[in-house]
Amino acid sequence: MLALEEARARVEELRREIRKHDYYYYVLDNPIISDQEYDALMRELEKLEEQHPQLIMPDSPTQRVGGEPLPEFQTVRHLVPLLGLANAFEPAELRDFDRRVRQLAGLPVDYVVEPKIDGLTVVLTYENGVFTQGATRGDGITGEDVTENLKTIRVLPLFLPGAPRRFVVRGEVFMPKKAFARLNEERDRRGEPSFANPRNAAAGSIRQLDPKVAASRTLGIYTYQILTSEGAALATQAEALSFLYKLGLPVQEQWRHCRDIEEVISYCREWIEKRRDLTYEIDGMVIKVNPLRLHPVLGSTAKSPRWAIAYKFPAEQVMARVKDIIVRVGRTGVLTPTAILEPVQVGGVTVSRATLHNEDMIREKDVRIGDYVVVQRAGDVIPEVIRALPERRTGREKRFRMPRTCPECGGKVVRLEGEVAARCRGMACPAQLKELLLHFVSRDAMDIEGVGQALVNQLVDRGLVKDPADLYYLKKEDLVRLERMGEKSAQNLLRALERSKERGLAPLIYALGIRYVGTRAAEILAERFGSIEALARAGVGELTAIPEIGPKIAASIEDFFQAEQTRRVLVKLRRAGVKMEQERAGGEPDRLPWSGKQFVLTGTLSFPRKEAEQMIKELGGAVASSVSKKTAYVVVGGDPGQKYEKARALGIPLLDEKAFLNLYGEAKKKFFF
Ligand code: IVH
Repeated sequence: MLALEEARARVEELRREIRKHDYYYYVLDNPIISDQEYDALMRELEKLEEQHPQLIMPDSPTQRVGGEPLPEFQTVRHLVPLLGLANAFEPAELRDFDRRVRQLAGLPVDYVVEPKIDGLTVVLTYENGVFTQGATRGDGITGEDVTENLKTIRVLPLFLPGAPRRFVVRGEVFMPKKAFARLNEERDRRGEPSFANPRNAAAGSIRQLDPKVAASRTLGIYTYQILTSEGAALATQAEALSFLYKLGLPVQEQWRHCRDIEEVISYCREWIEKRRDLTYEIDGMVIKVNPLRLHPVLGSTAKSPRWAIAYKFPAEQVMARVKDIIVRVGRTGVLTPTAILEPVQVGGVTVSRATLHNEDMIREKDVRIGDYVVVQRAGDVIPEVIRALPERRTGREKRFRMPRTCPECGGKVVRLEGEVAARCRGMACPAQLKELLLHFVSRDAMDIEGVGQALVNQLVDRGLVKDPADLYYLKKEDLVRLERMGEKSAQNLLRALERSKERGLAPLIYALGIRYVGTRAAEILAERFGSIEALARAGVGELTAIPEIGPKIAASIEDFFQAEQTRRVLVKLRRAGVKMEQERAGGEPDRLPWSGKQFVLTGTLSFPRKEAEQMIKELGGAVASSVSKKTAYVVVGGDPGQKYEKARALGIPLLDEKAFLNLYGEAKKKFFF
């Protein structure tokens, strides 16, 4: 155990380190150490704080981990109503705004322009430097107390040395673009509805009663307005932003001081394009009168202050001709019809394809191949077809039909009930493989440590893995040839793979990535069916008889197991030795097709008797050496002996070799794959 002083120094060092990595991870979305290394730093800090509780500080990274879920949010009454902003869409509207300001102020004014973060407004209160409360905007008068959730945002300081005694600031919580994309993919895989945009995702994360949910999401925050600051005398918005920054609060770097409205307009224009380089989404720019003393002079309307305005970026629309409609398969198997366009310029960018979203949308908008359409590019979203222009048709346009098979792997395309998306459910579909593998190895699934994105990329790109089962056939020679893979890590990986074979049925069911089957459903199914084969055989009727399994999940399961690719992968998994059954709580062992059936073999078969015995056992049957009333079948080869006579006498069904093979084949087909 370290002496107190040594511990203190190390604790401070660790906190600095962790904060730095939080910044790389959460703000830049570009971590420079692995999750494991980060966890190790955190664990070391936790341990030292446990050994020396006097070192625990309210702003320590260890204090962020969300506590118990709340029954509901407390409401918070805002001291000053939180207003919104009026919008301007054209430079002319900004000039009007400037004219009004100058008239009311009686003098020319300068401005501060800031990117307008597409997020969720929050109000942060620091008392004596300690973060004591965070609230949502709500209706502007009262909001919700989301303190615990905000504490989980890594870049939000819990302690602000040097802050005014009572310090209240306004800011915006957001979800970085990449984190948003990742979250939606994950939700999609789990069958949860995806968030429409990063703003909804941020709001959904902060307005969660369980702080652990917020803690699991990557969120950022920027502050931009001081609501209360006892003692700090600030003259301008520019000073306010610098003050926030110096105190240690996150502030966007991209704000600019502009001397007049023309400078404001050209800065706003710059950002129409530049916003794509930001790691988070902005939907415009905010223009604020710089001298703060003018704010009360200008006052506000019921909804928004007269000293600020939002300039909203234009959604850019152009006309284009649809050359073709192709189908792209996303990483989660969703088939997205995409219009191939004759290239057009939209806001300085050449656009040659635009999404049509899904089959229903195409039908609704009646978009046909050869049509002229209106294409829109808004924000960072993929350009989309807004509507067709039927008045420009020549009569040679063709209607589009969704393919029945996947253009990537030839697997069957299905559209599950209640879904707009058509999907390929192929377990070996190259478009989905990387994503599926990452899911397959994840902790709640097969828990194969040491398989991350980089390794998955290599395995797939080099053709070493074509479906999840291939992981179990990797050889050391293959592995050591990969980048960043030494002898030792190869060995560790093989060991992890070996260990994962014993994970059991529920994790395996989850690992297969069946749509709508999360960990909970997987457990229920494992418990109910006891083996993967039994589950594979279950029809919708049997599945929906389970209280927790609704028709949607049931249809998805049935469909999944009917796919050829699924069967192939399962056979490979079984052959690799992956455990595919589990003892059920009820104790009843799983019923294989020949469970409880006794076979007797007599005479010579055209293949070794041992093989016949194996076949019988494979399907759960037993082999006995003599015929009795308990014998279910006698398999009769050439030159049969006494057993044949006895069986005839007892009236026991006789099978010649061909009949035996038929029976085996049928049983196996129905049962196995
Ligand atoms: S200033 C009194 N600055 O945009 C209004 N707002 O559409 C003070 N927003 O409700 C708002 N970035 O949630 C301001 N740099 C920024 C902003 C910003 C995003 C949000 C804010 C506001 C909404 C208005």
